[in-house]
Amino acid sequence: MAHELYTLLILALIVSYAPVVIPSSFSYPAVFNFGDSNSDTGGLVAGVAFPVGPPNGQTYFQEPAGRFCDGRLIIDFLMEAMDHPFLSPYLDSVVDPNFQTGCNFATGGSTVLPANQYSRSLFSFGIQVAQFIRFKARVLELLAKDKNLEKYLPLEHFFKQALYVFDVGQNDLDGALYSRSERQMRAYIPGILSEFETGLQKLYNEGARNFWIHGTGPLGCLPRIIATFGRKASSLDQIGCVNAHNRVANAFNNQLHDLSTEFRSQFPDANVTYVDIFSIKWNLISNFSQYGFKQPLAACCGYGEPPLNFDNRIACGETKNLNGSTVTASPCNNTAEYVNWDGNHYTDAANRYVSDQILSGNYSDPPLTVNGSFNYKPKFINYKMLL
Ligand SMILES: *[C@@H]1O[C@H](CO)[C@@H](O)[C@H](O)[C@H]1NC(C)=O
Ligand SMILES: *[C@@H]1O[C@H](CO)[C@@H](O)[C@H](O)[C@H]1NC(C)=O
Ligand SMILES: *[C@@H]1O[C@H](CO)[C@@H](O)[C@H](O)[C@H]1NC(C)=O
Ligand SMILES: *[C@@H]1O[C@H](CO)[C@@H](O)[C@H](O)[C@H]1NC(C)=O
Ligand SMILES: *[C@@H]1O[C@H](CO)[C@@H](O)[C@H](O)[C@H]1NC(C)=O
Ligand SMILES: *[C@@H]1O[C@H](CO)[C@@H](O)[C@H](O)[C@H]1NC(C)=O
Repeated sequence: MAHELYTLLILALIVSYAPVVIPSSFSYPAVFNFGDSNSDTGGLVAGVAFPVGPPNGQTYFQEPAGRFCDGRLIIDFLMEAMDHPFLSPYLDSVVDPNFQTGCNFATGGSTVLPANQYSRSLFSFGIQVAQFIRFKARVLELLAKDKNLEKYLPLEHFFKQALYVFDVGQNDLDGALYSRSERQMRAYIPGILSEFETGLQKLYNEGARNFWIHGTGPLGCLPRIIATFGRKASSLDQIGCVNAHNRVANAFNNQLHDLSTEFRSQFPDANVTYVDIFSIKWNLISNFSQYGFKQPLAACCGYGEPPLNFDNRIACGETKNLNGSTVTASPCNNTAEYVNWDGNHYTDAANRYVSDQILSGNYSDPPLTVNGSFNYKPKFINYKMLL
């Protein structure tokens, strides 16, 4: 019996690593990623020594891995689907960085608009684009001097063929909503998008041709936002998310989607894809039990009262004296049942769900071009079903 179970497990492992059928357009020699903590694979840790300690990383890496997550981010799953290693952060100098298949410029806390005195990260979108330009120039300079470096660096033609991924804007909206009304936000959003467009244009001028623009998620469903802005029942929607924040995120996404469409018509030789991340996450949170989750809103790693398990004063992994007693914001025992990890970011399990939905092509505009019949299968099988 035990032997059979063992065989079954081995089989399960083989099955789960079998080649995935992926839309034919989803194959790029390199990926360059821009954004904030939703796709930061170690930039903030490297850049400002921000402490991302345990239990971050516990589910997949078994140690903190520079990510605000118990495991992998959406960008990690996308890299896995392309059979590429995870992206090294541009700023990381004390690792064994391999930039051949891309580089990550995303940094936790980053905004699209230039940083100000309240910013957690100095590496706003414009800086990330400037870093990319420097990266590209330096790579070409080094490759011209030493062919051996081709093992570690992207080849010149990769820059044109690469996928440029963007997941930006959440921190601009989040920060601004602490001091602005929904009406004032309407006047604020175009400035964010104009700054974003300037960056896209610069990347295009550098030869980038494949753009993949992620919409922002339902900000109003993050435990921190609900704890801060959702005290009155009238501010919440039917699933318990803060209405105003989600309306603003939707307004931002509509304009971001329009920008993607305009950029496409302005530059017909570029592929510009908009991915509706809001709908994927919203569907996950609304219909969580259909996808094997038990907690749509509560933070797995936090401290506080149900239903949110979140307290603004104490971050995931911290131990503090609150009101005379020593408390720890510790992780739940069953991470895979939670959509939210630490009050601000999604779990490895949720990120896997979102990535599978992205790769289904159902949320892309224009739809992902698929070679032949559509037969994408999620990469990971459900072990519980097997056992
Ligand atoms: C756009 O995407 C298609 C399909 O992946 C690809 O064949 C084409 O080369 C891309 N265009 C550019 C300019 O890279
Ligand atoms: C939740 O699932 C139901 C049934 O499958 C579906 O009709 C509904 O559109 C889903 N909700 C969202 C927000 O996608
Ligand atoms: C501190 O504890 C007292 C007594 O239990 C309680 O009334 C108060 O709300 C607590 N304050 C905070 C900030 O938790
Ligand atoms: C995890 O499980 C242990 C043992 O069952 C239990 O004592 C502990 O309270 C659980 N922790 C959480 C955060 O639920
Ligand atoms: C994509 O959407 C279609 C129509 O809603 C659905 O039948 C199909 O299962 C979806 N594909 C995946 C992989 O989710
Ligand atoms: C689709 O895939 C088949 C088999 O791999 C290949 O022969 C064919 O050229 C592909 N068609 C397109 C349009 O890419």
